[in-house]
Amino acid sequence: MAAAMPFCSLALMMLGVLSSFCTAIHSAAVSDDDLLMLESSRRQQAIPASDADLLEFPLNLEYLEAEFFLWGSLGFGLDKFAPNLTMGGPSPVDARVARLDPFTRDVIYQFALQEIGHLRAIKSTVKGFPRPLLNLSAAHFAGVMNDAFGRPLEPPFDPYASGLNFLLASYLIPYVGLTGYVGANPELQSPTSKHLVAGLLAVESGQDAVIRALLYRRAAVMVAPYRITVAEFTSRISELRNQLGKSGLKDEGLVVRQVRGAEGRSRGNVLAGDEFSLGYARTPQEILRIVYATGDERVAGGFYPNGAKGRIAASYLQKSIT
Ligand SMILES: *[C@@H]1O[C@H](CO)[C@@H](O)[C@H](O)[C@H]1NC(C)=O
Ligand SMILES: *[C@@H]1O[C@H](CO)[C@@H](O)[C@H](O)[C@H]1NC(C)=O
Repeated sequence: MAAAMPFCSLALMMLGVLSSFCTAIHSAAVSDDDLLMLESSRRQQAIPASDADLLEFPLNLEYLEAEFFLWGSLGFGLDKFAPNLTMGGPSPVDARVARLDPFTRDVIYQFALQEIGHLRAIKSTVKGFPRPLLNLSAAHFAGVMNDAFGRPLEPPFDPYASGLNFLLASYLIPYVGLTGYVGANPELQSPTSKHLVAGLLAVESGQDAVIRALLYRRAAVMVAPYRITVAEFTSRISELRNQLGKSGLKDEGLVVRQVRGAEGRSRGNVLAGDEFSLGYARTPQEILRIVYATGDERVAGGFYPNGAKGRIAASYLQKSIT
């Protein structure tokens, strides 16, 4: 009977189940399997379908982050680290270990572990889907940078070449997830969903803040071998995302025109925020346009050669076929 107690308090806390339900379980002899089945059927009742879609969508980004950070810091990914979480989805294309200094490796490894936690958290709330095919090749990142600068960088940008390059490549990722969580929050119905998204948003924002702070410290440094500063890289990447997202200004580099800084009083822009220094919100369509690098939620590409997964992403992809 010891197993019934934690389940009951958890169920009460998360789902608001009547205490009489738990008392009933407590007094009946039930196996752990029964409890799990009850828990999952309660869970499905508690999460409306529209919430489930919105909670599943960010799995696409969490898989991307988990793989990029695991590979970058360790030289292997979920297939070795947590194979169950892939649900049999294909391995990422051309991910590699990065040449990281010990400090950056330590930070990125912690980020990788956090992403694994996020995958577990989402999948313990909604059914989820297998890992999508992810293109983590240096060539893809190089292509993004070429698009950002409007010309081919020579030699091509390699995210895996150094700690600084890896941080610049990382600037590409958690921020997009963050804006998606800000966008999803007002659409959610159930307290369980809101609690999950607030928790995910908190840590994604923290990751983005760490990445930005580490880059801000070196804002004026030239990224070798280019004669381009860290600050300019971030401005160009942010500008590219604004263009691909097609919904105005929601992305800002580390150094901005003063009017764009906090309270219109700072050129330094260690964190991005709107006129009230609130996080920008993006819709799933905007996010897909950016991570596909096509500017079109119906045309897969970029990090997701076969498209992102889940009902929301699939609903746009289908339209391109018909
Ligand atoms: C992974 O899946 C296998 C087979 O279904 C199972 O035996 C194992 O306990 C799972 N591991 C984790 C960590 O969930
Ligand atoms: C990954 O991206 C690179 C650069 O855009 C491309 O050449 C390659 O074909 C892509 N791989 C897949 C499997 O889509």
